[in-house]
Amino acid sequence: MGGAPQQSLKQQAADQVLTYIRPGMIVGLGAGSTALLAVRGLAARLARGELADIKGIPCSRAIEAEARALGIPLTTLEEEQADADGRVIDFTFDGADEVDPALNLIKGGGGALLHEKIVAQASRREVIIVDESKLSPTLGVRWAVPVEVVPFGWRTQAAYLESLGGRPRLRPGDDGRPYVTDQGNLILDSAFGPIDDPARLAARLDARTGIVCHGLFLQLADEVIVAGAAGLRRLTRPDRP
Ligand code: A5P
Repeated sequence: MGGAPQQSLKQQAADQVLTYIRPGMIVGLGAGSTALLAVRGLAARLARGELADIKGIPCSRAIEAEARALGIPLTTLEEEQADADGRVIDFTFDGADEVDPALNLIKGGGGALLHEKIVAQASRREVIIVDESKLSPTLGVRWAVPVEVVPFGWRTQAAYLESLGGRPRLRPGDDGRPYVTDQGNLILDSAFGPIDDPARLAARLDARTGIVCHGLFLQLADEVIVAGAAGLRRLTRPDRP
């Protein structure tokens, strides 16, 4: 699926997630094309006076620029008071590249995975908005795992990823040179095929110095809104209804 129908499904998911936002909330603004639609919708609701007293925390420079241009008040994780669990954000919406039945995700297709994961971990509630093409029986079937690495020694990280069974490919930017993240790092898109034990792979990636972040978002989504041909569906984690 692609083109106009997919765009319309993304719009439906984005419209739905806006109904979750209440006055006074600090809102995490996810990255990617679906989250962008929600950012635009949020700005429209604020402009119409349907919502007020919102502060946004963007997950990427591109989303920050868009939110600023649209007049969404912004804040930062540093300016706000964290609770005892290190959470600052009341509610975050974000997109995903792949969603499994346990609501584990692959994210980072847009390159903002590090900030997205920091924001997700600092959020009291994280809701993912996708069209149904993102649903997958097993992570890795549809998408490579983006792995963000510091430039120093990046080839050693590529070799490490190969040792774990991955096929890493240095992500190119629009100019043909390597893509550089908002934090000045590189991305190795690493195809693993079906990932039978995502927690085990995540632990091995987390253990490696030089790997800054990876696109396996495990147990971070509280809910996924899926827009499909048959309408909207709301998927929740059994432990986080
Ligand atoms: C951004 O880095 C990503 O994690 C996006 O959330 C993800 O790639 C989904 O993007 P789309 O909404 O554009 O499909």
